[in-house]
Parts: sequence; C-alpha cells; structure tokens
Amino acid sequence: MSDRLSVSLGSVRLKNPVIPASGTFGFGEEMAALYDLNCLGAISFKGTTREARYGNPLPRIAECGNYGMINAVGLQNPGIDEVIEKQLPMLERLYSGPIIANVSGFSVDDYCYVCGKLDAKERVSIIEVNISCPNVHNGGMAFGTTPEAAAEVTRAVRKVTNKPIYIKLSPNVTDIVSIARACVDAGADGLCLINTVLGMRIDIRRRRPVIANRYGGYSGRGIFPIALRMVNQVAVALNRQVPIIGCGGIETAEDVVEMMMAGASAVEVGAANLHNPMACPEIIDRLPALLDELKIQQIQDITGCCLS
Ligand SMILES: Cc1cc2nc3c(=O)[nH]c(=O)nc-3n(C[C@H](O)[C@H](O)[C@H](O)COP(=O)(O)O)c2cc1C
Repeated sequence: MSDRLSVSLGSVRLKNPVIPASGTFGFGEEMAALYDLNCLGAISFKGTTREARYGNPLPRIAECGNYGMINAVGLQNPGIDEVIEKQLPMLERLYSGPIIANVSGFSVDDYCYVCGKLDAKERVSIIEVNISCPNVHNGGMAFGTTPEAAAEVTRAVRKVTNKPIYIKLSPNVTDIVSIARACVDAGADGLCLINTVLGMRIDIRRRRPVIANRYGGYSGRGIFPIALRMVNQVAVALNRQVPIIGCGGIETAEDVVEMMMAGASAVEVGAANLHNPMACPEIIDRLPALLDELKIQQIQDITGCCLS
C-alpha cells in the first residue's frame, strides 16, 4: 500500500487513518476470521474496566433503520486482568499495528488502576480514556459532562502512565469545547470524539421502551453531522494543539475525508462494523481512488482544511 494514506497521531504512525471504534470490534478475534487485520490503521479494543462486567439486562439494542442503532450494552468486558492475560496477547498475534486500549471506569481510582496496568504493556500505543461513564461517587453523573470532572480523570491518569493519553469525549454536553480544553490543560495528548448520543425508542405495540434500561447510546449514520460539528468546534478552538480522532457515523471513504477536513487526524468506525463487518477494509480500499478524484496527494494534508 502506498504511503499516501499514512497519518500520525503525535508520535504514533498509522499506515492509514481508519480505526475500528471501541465496542464494535471486540478484541479482533471474530473480525480476523473475515479479513487480515493488518490492513487497519490501528485498533481500539473493547472498553476495559477494573473488574469483569456482564453488562445491562436484555434487550439492550434498538435498531433505527438505516440511520443507526441504540445500544445499552453496559461495558460488558472480562476485566483488565483477563484482558492482559488473554485478549491482548491474542490481539498482538493477530495484528502488528498500533493498539489503542480503551479504558472505562466508575471512579478516578478505577481509571488509574486500569491505566497503570496497561502502562506496562509494550504493544499498547495509546490509552483512550472513555469518560462517558457514570461517577459512582458523584451521584452517577458522567465524568465527561463537566470540565472539572473530565480534568480530574485526565490529571489522575496522566500520573500513572507515560503512554499517550487520548480522552474520548461525550457529546451529551452543552459546551464540548470547554471540556476538550480542560482535558488538554490537564495533560491529555489527544482527544477522540464523539461517543454515542443519548437516545430512546418505544415499542408502540407494547407501549414500552425497546431497551430494558430505557435510554441508550445512539450511534451510526444519523450522528455523523453532530460528530462532524463537534470535531470542527474543538479543532477550531484548540487550533492543532493536540491530534483529534474523529468518530461518529462514519461509513464511507467520503465520510473519512470529510471528518479529516473538519479537523481529525484519524477516524474511528463504529456501528458500520456491525451491519457490514467488511466496512473498514472496504473504506481503506476505496480511499486511493477517492484521493485521485479529489486531487489530494497525501491524506494527512487535508486535516483541518476547514478550520477557518
Ligand atoms: C455496541 C457498542 C458498544 C460500544 N462500546 C464502547 C466502549 O466500550 N467504549 C467506548 O469508548 N465507546 C464504545 N462505543 C462507542 C463507539 O466506540 C463510538 O464512539 C460510537 O458508536 C460512535 O461511532 P459510530 O457512530 O461510528 O458507531 C460503543 C458503541 C457501540 C455501538
């Protein structure tokens, strides 16, 4: 593959900007049965917590036609010890590129514990800290909803690892820029946005919410314009201070280019993997012809061309 697709996230070099998003790719095992994972720019693995979690009660998925889906999976994962013992070594065998470790927590201590353990893992290139999780010590309000709580998590994890820390922001806020800025001021090396948008569906025949937990995270095609707007707002405000991974509703090579023009250095593809497991390799295959069509030599040159 030609080098024209390569991009960098700080000191981490990616052969192309396409990364499967956390929670939509597990630890790569199922997808590796369908294609060679080494075509991917990087891989963000399933949100990992201190203890194993079995997730929320069923049903926890609501379909939304071709504009997306709602999930309330509830961070089901085997816990950091098993991830380090089993899933990470397996992923390392299947994939030789940069691994992004996605971390979730319910207290600042939880985040530090998991990030501290990942710090020792050579093949983890970036730690992506998901702050859309509820803080059990603060009435369950998500860390990502105030600049103070977002900065507190960032400062704390900064102390336990030298690896690049990317804070993954929640879109369920009034002012994403103030939260992004607080994370960068507290020591984040980069940002990833957006996580899912809070949503709901009702089964009109049963007159009940489709999802057992009532609300869930809306992802897929329908959130692309929201994600694009938020990436652009943050990119304009921070003016290239840190790299941004753009995420939300990306399904095509055209979406990748658009998200990079908005200010992203790389992108994550989430829900698209669930309805088309070949989404990532198909996007990567299509990119060179699209760059030709748009007369773009190097894909990395388009990052942030719409900042002003
Ligand atoms: C089933 C499912 C599970 C997810 N699990 C996680 C997770 O563990 N950690 C995380 O940071 N984001 C998680 N996400 C959010 C995605 O990584 C992504 O930010 C979001 O879905 C928006 O991208 P998309 O529209 O391309 O799906 C999950 C999304 C889905 C659909």
